[in-house]
Amino acid sequence: MSFKKEFLWGGATAANQIEGAYNEDGKGLSTADVITAGTYETPRHITWKNPKTEETGYSELTFGGTRVAPEGAQPAILDGEYYPSHIASDFYHHYKEDIALMAEMGFKTYRMSINWSRIFPNGDDTKPNEAGLEFYDHVFDELNKNGIEPLVTLSHYETPLNLAIKYNGWASRELIDFYVNYARTVFNRYNGKVKYWLTFNEINCMDMMPFVAGGLVDGSLQNRAQGTHNQFVASALTVKLGHEINPDFQIGQMLAYSQIYALTADPADQLKAIQQMDDTLFYSDVQTGGHYPNSRLKMYEREGVKLDDRPEDYELLAKYPADFLSFSCYTSNVVTTHNDQAEDAGNLQVGVKNPYLKASSWGWATDPYVLRIALKTLTNRYHKPLWIVENGLGAVDEIAEDGKIHDDYRIEYLQENIKSMRDAVTIDGADLMGYTSWGCIDLVSAGTGEMKKRYGYIYVDRDNDGSGTLNRSRKDSFYWYKKVIRTNGEDL
Ligand code: BG6
Repeated sequence: MSFKKEFLWGGATAANQIEGAYNEDGKGLSTADVITAGTYETPRHITWKNPKTEETGYSELTFGGTRVAPEGAQPAILDGEYYPSHIASDFYHHYKEDIALMAEMGFKTYRMSINWSRIFPNGDDTKPNEAGLEFYDHVFDELNKNGIEPLVTLSHYETPLNLAIKYNGWASRELIDFYVNYARTVFNRYNGKVKYWLTFNEINCMDMMPFVAGGLVDGSLQNRAQGTHNQFVASALTVKLGHEINPDFQIGQMLAYSQIYALTADPADQLKAIQQMDDTLFYSDVQTGGHYPNSRLKMYEREGVKLDDRPEDYELLAKYPADFLSFSCYTSNVVTTHNDQAEDAGNLQVGVKNPYLKASSWGWATDPYVLRIALKTLTNRYHKPLWIVENGLGAVDEIAEDGKIHDDYRIEYLQENIKSMRDAVTIDGADLMGYTSWGCIDLVSAGTGEMKKRYGYIYVDRDNDGSGTLNRSRKDSFYWYKKVIRTNGEDL
C-alpha cells in the first residue's frame, strides 16, 4: 500500500478563476476583476482610470517594481475591455452540478477559495455581506453531503479592490486587521463545515506579481517586502485565532514551488541555482519554519529596505507557524551563468530550456522527478506534513468527431507526476496529506487569462472571447482519475 487510507485525493480551483458572478449578491470588486485576458504571446493588462481627468490606460500583469497606475489614477474596469473573471466558468450558478461531478470521480477533498470581496465588499467594512456568507454555506453543505472535505484558501490572488486603491494593498499594516477580521468571520461561520484552511495562495508570488498577490498599486521592493511581512504576521495571527476557535482546525501555508536546476557543473551555476531556491524557500522558512533567514535580511540591508515591524511580530512568527506546508508544483526551471550555452525557455519561463524535458504549448516542461525532489527538499528542511495542492497540465483540448475529448497527453503528464509523488512517499517516507490537481474543472488561466489553457477533467464549453454554453462534459481523464482515486493511487 503506497498512500495512507485517508489520503485526500481531489482537485483545486480559485474563486476568481471559476466563480464568475463578479458583481452579484452584494459582492464588491476585487483586484482580479480589473485584469483583462491575454495569451501566451501577449500579456494580461491591469486597466486604470484617473477619476479627475478621465484618462485611462493599462499596465502589464507582471509589472515588477513599478506602479500599476500613474499617480492620481486607480485600477478600474473600462468600457469595451474583456475581463475573464466576470463570468469565468460560472461556478456560482453551477456549483451543485460541479460538485456532483467531483463526487462521481470519488473526490475526497476539494480545494477552493473564498472570494474575500464577497464577504467584505470593500475589505474594510464593519459588517459582512450575508448573501456572500450564504453562498459558501450552500457550497460547503453540498460538499459535506457528498462526503467531500473542503480545503479553503482565504486569499487566492484577489484582494478587495478598495484595499488596493485606498491602502496600497498589503503594503499597509492596516490590512492585517482587516484580514484577521475576515478570517474570524469565516472561521466562526463555517466552524463544523470546514477543517482545512490555507492563508495565502503562493505567497512567494509577491515579487513577480505584487498587484495579484498583494493588491499593491505601487510595487517597489520596499512595498513588496513590507507586504510580505504583513502577510506573514497576518498568517501567524490567523493560525493563533483559528486554533482558539477550533483546536482541530489545520491551517497551512501555500508556496509556489519550482525546482531550479543548474545547467552545468560550474560552481557558479550551482550557486545561482541555490540562490534562486533560497528566494522561494525564504517564504516557507518564515511561515512554516518561524524565522527570517539571514540571507533575506542581508539582502534587505543591501537594498536599503526598512521594515515597519514590531518585536512582537517575530514572537508571533516563531510561536504560530503554519500547521502544514502545501505547495503548487508544475515544472522545474534551469539557470546558468553561461548565457552562450542557454537556449531561451520562452517568455513565461524563468531561465533556460532543459534539454532533457519536453515542454507544453505554454513552455512548461514536464518533469517526471520534480514532485519527488520537491517533497524530499521540503521534508528535509521543515519536517512537517506536506500537501500538494496544485499540479497539472495546461493544454488545448479538441472535441473529437465522436464528440468527446481524448486528453491522453493530460493523463500521461499526471501519470508521471503521481508516480513521482508516490516514490517520495514509498521510498523516501514523505508525510503527504493529499493531492489536489489544479483546475479539475476548466477555468480561467491566472497567467494568461485564457480559457483554452485547460487543466480539467471536466470540460467547460467557453472560449477565450467569452462565448460558449458553459455546459459541462467529462473528458477521458475524468474516468482515468476516478480509477486512480478508487485504487488509492495503485493503478495509474
Ligand atoms: C498557480 C496559481 O500559480 O498556477 C493558479 O495558484 C494558476 O491560480 C495555476 O491558475 C496555473 O497557472 P496558469 O497561469 O496556467 O493558470
